[in-house]
Amino acid sequence: MRLSISVTTLLAAACAIGNSNALSIPSFANPQQLLNLEHYGNAFNSQMDKFAQSALNGNIVTAIANYFNEPLESISEETKKIWSDLILQFPQSVTNLNFKSNPKKATKGKGKFDVHVTDKKFPGHQLRVKSTPESLGVDTVKQYSGYLDVEEEDKHFFYWFFESRNDPKNDPVVLWLNGGPGCSSLTGLFFELGPSSITAGIKPKFNPSAWNNNASVIFLDQPVNVGYSYSSESVSNTIAAGKDVYAFLELFFKQFPQYNNLPFHIAGESYAGHYIPVFASEILSHEERTFNLTSVLIGNGLTDPLVQYEYYEPMACGEGGEPSVLSPEECQGMTDAIPRCTSLIKSCYESESIWSCVPASIYCNNAEMGPYQRTGRNVYDIRTMCEGSNLCYSDLEYIDQYLNLEDVKAALGVEVDEYESCNFDINRNFLLAGDWMKPYYKNVINLLESDVPVLIYAGDKDFICNWLGNQAWTNALEWSGSAGFSKAPVKSWEVNGKPAGEVKNYKHFTFLRVFGGGHMVPYDQPESSLDMVNRWLSGDYKF
Ligand SMILES: *[C@@H]1O[C@H](CO)[C@@H](O)[C@H](O)[C@H]1NC(C)=O
Ligand SMILES: *[C@@H]1O[C@H](CO)[C@@H](O)[C@H](O)[C@H]1NC(C)=O
Repeated sequence: MRLSISVTTLLAAACAIGNSNALSIPSFANPQQLLNLEHYGNAFNSQMDKFAQSALNGNIVTAIANYFNEPLESISEETKKIWSDLILQFPQSVTNLNFKSNPKKATKGKGKFDVHVTDKKFPGHQLRVKSTPESLGVDTVKQYSGYLDVEEEDKHFFYWFFESRNDPKNDPVVLWLNGGPGCSSLTGLFFELGPSSITAGIKPKFNPSAWNNNASVIFLDQPVNVGYSYSSESVSNTIAAGKDVYAFLELFFKQFPQYNNLPFHIAGESYAGHYIPVFASEILSHEERTFNLTSVLIGNGLTDPLVQYEYYEPMACGEGGEPSVLSPEECQGMTDAIPRCTSLIKSCYESESIWSCVPASIYCNNAEMGPYQRTGRNVYDIRTMCEGSNLCYSDLEYIDQYLNLEDVKAALGVEVDEYESCNFDINRNFLLAGDWMKPYYKNVINLLESDVPVLIYAGDKDFICNWLGNQAWTNALEWSGSAGFSKAPVKSWEVNGKPAGEVKNYKHFTFLRVFGGGHMVPYDQPESSLDMVNRWLSGDYKF
């Protein structure tokens, strides 16, 4: 079978790009436009050319082997064939491949902070805190923003915390993470579940369905160089990112002990389907931790690609609750590519080596997402086409403008020169590091066996991390409750007396299909999403 790899699909890759990934998947009706986009267009092409050429010379393979400590002997014949197919697609000149992202322009010390927190357990780490963001009018509740600094590695993570609107002394605390990889959690704040959205006049507008109605919520920009976070270093895998997030949480709860005995939950979407199982496992591995891990919630995540990649075809071709948006030939093409795609993902699962994992991402993304993307349809919502210039949602542009206002940055203590909702270098780095297809779903088993409740929810109009795939992997997951879960009935979930979705639960594991939600459920279904989060946080795992 002939591979056809396009830079477009390679970039456009999965759920990964997450929330404001709307940015990174512009109109696929016009792939040229994607290639011309300044942030990664030409630079990325020339990267791929370099990659190809040095690969042809044998250099790239050696370079990767050295860079990632991956022995060359571990490459199978099939993998070699895939790499050479890949290389043939980019037969142009040049030399070294650079896996590192460019450092973000920032000035440490530019932000003015009130409190600095350190902890002997984390030498070289400090948390800087500012308590003035209320002046911005995003919410009237108590707020803190600032940076976690890891001096030795020159990493600076931005966060913004909002107290619960209800009873912050007793309400739970939620950490929210957007995906990407490489997209800012502040788009989750302003586009989805935070206390305000941003209007066309670039002003905050109160969100009555914000998740901080009954919980305190932390929005964290990670890994470094995402959103307002910055570094001269780069992070290109989920495991490394998890260690930083754990340190952040310890220092946060040290600074704010009034929250550290409260129930604590991690929620996120899209590529956070990779992050959350790993971050939560990292937290559990620290018995000395000073805070609770009460549950995790993953929305439209990419968690078990081996199962999920089989469901792009049914979702696009009429079996996900919407009519087919592709021709029978295109659907057939997607079906035909499944055996090779799954065999590549399987070898990635077995070896977890970038030799297998990178080609699996490239081949599968191309074969299973390419046909849909070429229609120009919104990958986050099968009901719509991408609107606006290069964003699928024009509201996202307002958020970018707002977060680049000087007075906003000053009020928050921001030290980066420019806010971007998604960093495409990071996206590429994760893909080229093989992170995309790795079997992080195994960490979900670890969480369940450690009695940490897990909610997998999915808006049922999303294509890119669709509900069929999420339903399928939750059914396929092997844990001590699998038999019970497989026998559990699918029940109706109602919000305000109206059908809002369907739920399947056994013990502390729940799959929830959200009717009428795209990739960003709180954006499309704010009331359902608030009911969902409040019920779950209150311990109602059955809905
Ligand atoms: C949520 O907050 C509202 C007030 O904002 C309160 O009336 C309600 O009881 C709270 N619900 C829970 C479950 O705490
Ligand atoms: C976690 O929550 C419980 C109450 O549910 C509390 O007793 C405990 O001290 C909390 N903190 C930690 C670190 O477990």
